[in-house]
Amino acid sequence: MSARFANENDIDKVLQIEAMSFLQPWDYHIFKLALDDIFLVFDEPDISGYIIVVCCSKNIRATIMKIAVHPEHRQKGIATALLKQALEILREKEILDVCLNVEIIREPAIKLYEKFGFKIMQTIHMDYEDDLADDAFYIMKLILDES
Ligand SMILES: CC(C)(COP(=O)(O)OP(=O)(O)OC[C@H]1O[C@@H](n2cnc3c(N)ncnc32)[C@H](O)[C@@H]1OP(=O)(O)O)[C@@H](O)C(=O)NCCC(=O)NCCS
Repeated sequence: MSARFANENDIDKVLQIEAMSFLQPWDYHIFKLALDDIFLVFDEPDISGYIIVVCCSKNIRATIMKIAVHPEHRQKGIATALLKQALEILREKEILDVCLNVEIIREPAIKLYEKFGFKIMQTIHMDYEDDLADDAFYIMKLILDES
């Protein structure tokens, strides 16, 4: 199973998966900008998942911005293939560590990241004054040398 770099023609399919995966989906413009980053799609036989990773801090650190798989194709190893390939690219770039934020309600994603050796570094609680919402999320980190 392998992924490839996304191109502009993939964005419509990516947007469909995005809408099924997130309450506040990114729009076309944001995905188009992401084509400048590490934006991989899994397309066997059609676009069924994607990952977006941004390198920053003078190429020392990378951040996973998004990973999602079409609901009908989940639990078949597609996210594993996407993340594995993204991490290989980061190792080739000699990136030292990879960070991400993930809502603590997203248990499948947390399990996926833990499977790759990501560790929870911090829990952040976003308490809003006007209601009882508590959108807690974890900051997770993987040191590439150790994995
Ligand atoms: C998280 C997500 C990307 C996983 O995609 P996937 O292709 O189903 O994942 P895989 O089949 O590669 O599974 C890899 C690991 O993830 C974990 N996992 C996946 N689905 C799971 C589930 N429903 N429950 C618990 N763990 C799960 C397991 O550890 C699994 O490893 P295993 O098969 O050895 O048990 C997918 O569920 C998704 O798109 N969710 C909505 C978007 C999202 O939450 N993105 C992350 C925040 S940016």
